Amino acid sequence: MSLRHPPRLRPEIETLGLSKIREVANAAFGRDDILRFWFGESDRETPLPIRQAAIEALQSGRMFYTHNSGNPDLRQTIATYLSGLHGRAIAPASISVTSSGVNALMLAMQAILSPGDKVVAVVPVWPNLTEIPHILGAQVVRVAVEPAFDGWRLDVDRLLAAITPEVKLLLLNSPGNPTGWTMRPEDRSVILEHCRRLGVWIIADDVYERLTFDPSRRSAPSFLEISDPEDRVIGVNSFSKAWLMTGWRLGWMVAPPGLEIELGKLIEYNTSCAPDFVQAAGLVAVRDGERDVLALRRDLQDTRDLMLARLGAMPGVSAIPPEGGMYVFFRIAGQDNSLDLAKRLIHEAGLGLAPGAAFGPEGEGWLRWCIATAPARLEQGLSRLETWLAQSR
Ligand SMILES: Cc1ncc(COP(=O)(O)O)c(C=O)c1O
Repeated sequence: MSLRHPPRLRPEIETLGLSKIREVANAAFGRDDILRFWFGESDRETPLPIRQAAIEALQSGRMFYTHNSGNPDLRQTIATYLSGLHGRAIAPASISVTSSGVNALMLAMQAILSPGDKVVAVVPVWPNLTEIPHILGAQVVRVAVEPAFDGWRLDVDRLLAAITPEVKLLLLNSPGNPTGWTMRPEDRSVILEHCRRLGVWIIADDVYERLTFDPSRRSAPSFLEISDPEDRVIGVNSFSKAWLMTGWRLGWMVAPPGLEIELGKLIEYNTSCAPDFVQAAGLVAVRDGERDVLALRRDLQDTRDLMLARLGAMPGVSAIPPEGGMYVFFRIAGQDNSLDLAKRLIHEAGLGLAPGAAFGPEGEGWLRWCIATAPARLEQGLSRLETWLAQSR
């Protein structure tokens, strides 16, 4: 008789959702004729000076463990950058360097959430934001943004009604992935005030803050502009999007003063530190990369305009203008199953898009198109969609 127990994991892990984007990508396995727009990254390589900084750091032997919270020079550089961006003094001690944005989200939630806690999230949203609470045994209440002809709208009263005294944390990603919804400054103050009154934490996922399409702003409205250092606000950020560094796995958190000690302990038990040579590259990105960030933002504005013009001319297609980010979220009349549709588009049109259902039930019926690519490549994809629509009518 065997005394061995069958392998069992925590129920929270066994019930984790599989990525539906991955499912679509798998359906295209072995096909090199597919135009892929499903992942959330630019196809442009990291600017050369950033790469050069990593090479030089490696050549000079920077390959050992660093401080849990990151190198002092990088924390100082990020603090200076953020203080200028958000118009208030942000201390280097409030910055914790992390091994990616998603790692920062995990650390922040590990620090705040206990099993059974209640979290409110503005959705549809990148699934990692809502799956991390699930991994930690917390419950997520979803409040959806709604499409309007000129952008996505958040019903703030509905959000405030969902943030009751039992809620521990509000998760908010603005500009949002996948919709490009961007929080209004006036809504931001009301939300902060409400959370302050109830003692509710806010994790603000600001990874697309520089990729706003509002020409009057250097970054999208952020809680960091108006919050006090002691507020229960953690800003999460990443080098991935604005600095074209997805594969480098580097990010940061801005947390209330004093918390960096606790967060440093958590970093110790998760990854211990971000790699030293990657931190060296990150410093050059934040210090010298402004021109590249602005160029990326301009290019995204152009590709967004191109997409909206061409999708708008296709019968049955509705695209809601994103106010920031690197995606266009759109739907095709009569197509309500986004996963089936995304798989059909692979086989019948050679077009790879992310199914809206990957971002929660509110995204069902929609498709996400990553627009961080060359206009000519986008035009090619749009023509494939146009031909497919004409044939399937
Ligand atoms: C909303 C949002 N937050 C965080 C991230 C994390 O980025 P990374 O882990 O590459 O830093 C992403 C990546 O797609 C994202 O879309």
